[in-house]
Amino acid sequence: MRVLGIETSCDETAAAFYCDERGVVAHALYSQVEMHARYGGVVPELASRDHVRKLVPLIREVMDRAGEPVDGVAYTSGPGLVGALLVGAALGRSLAYAWGVPAVEVHHMEAHLLAPMLAPDRPEFPFLALLVSGGHTQLVAVEALGRYTLLGESVDDAAGEAFDKTAKLMGLGYPGGPAISKLAQQGTPGRFHFPRPMTHKPGLDFSFSGLKTSALNTWQNHRDEPNAKADIARAFEDAVVDTLAQKCQRALEETGMPRLVIAGGVSANGPLREALSRLARDLGVEVFYPPLAYCTDNAAMVAYAGAQHLGRGESAGLGIRVQPRWPMM
Ligand code: KG4
Ligand code: ZN
Repeated sequence: MRVLGIETSCDETAAAFYCDERGVVAHALYSQVEMHARYGGVVPELASRDHVRKLVPLIREVMDRAGEPVDGVAYTSGPGLVGALLVGAALGRSLAYAWGVPAVEVHHMEAHLLAPMLAPDRPEFPFLALLVSGGHTQLVAVEALGRYTLLGESVDDAAGEAFDKTAKLMGLGYPGGPAISKLAQQGTPGRFHFPRPMTHKPGLDFSFSGLKTSALNTWQNHRDEPNAKADIARAFEDAVVDTLAQKCQRALEETGMPRLVIAGGVSANGPLREALSRLARDLGVEVFYPPLAYCTDNAAMVAYAGAQHLGRGESAGLGIRVQPRWPMM
């Protein structure tokens, strides 16, 4: 099965060619981060227009590099920004029609969830997945492809969103995750301490919206002191990482899952990877991450997820459909 994958759900335009025998044969990505940075976040209309400009050349590039036809086209149909999704869905559905191959609608978070399958050392089912992106923070019991049970999720901001909002409040720019994480490396651990939200109550839900207020208040009270920004970044990152690790531990103990998979943009975070690898070692479970290039939004994960569904005989109708809000479970 050879699949062209297309991703346009937010601020990355991406195309990839995946084949069952050879893996990811070609992938190309254009990030709109610079364009949105001056507004401090993604401007949906600008995102859509830029996808229109960039998607065709990126598809040409990966198809030329692969040098062979595809057996199907997979595109992110949701969740995401409606205008942005429509660009990928319209082009993907139309290309499949023109080429006479099936099309398949891919759920963006399922694509993230399956991205670790693109690593040389890939997890077997079943596993516990921690999905941490700009829009979602979810703990999911994964029994098999398509058999997902939601165990817990954020009741307010997603982990990535908390990074982005906190960075914005402290004038660190967009996207906030990498910015905070970089600055935190120069921070003194323990100078400030932020709460670990919802860890004292039972359950597997998260709440990250209060952390940005902790960070903002601390920043306002200490902004003139040396190294305050880096120390706050450190305290913030430690709080997010520690909270995620505690909930993963609880979920692993409750489910008895033998494997832990971490995916989504925040899975690129170094301290999070270290903390979860340590936790997995202590609990005797295996841990898996996507290759770094496939942690944040990309089309390789979309092509892979599409290949799995096409392989089961699933395909989309002829309509061009997007689902901006689309629960995975
Ligand atoms: O998965 P993704 O690319 O897009 C969504 O589906 O949302 O995730 C983007 C999120 C952003 O909030 C970004 O700040 C965060 O992932 N992120 C990070 C890091 N790299 C990206 N957060 C913390 N540390 C990082 N190194
Ligand atoms: Zn994503």
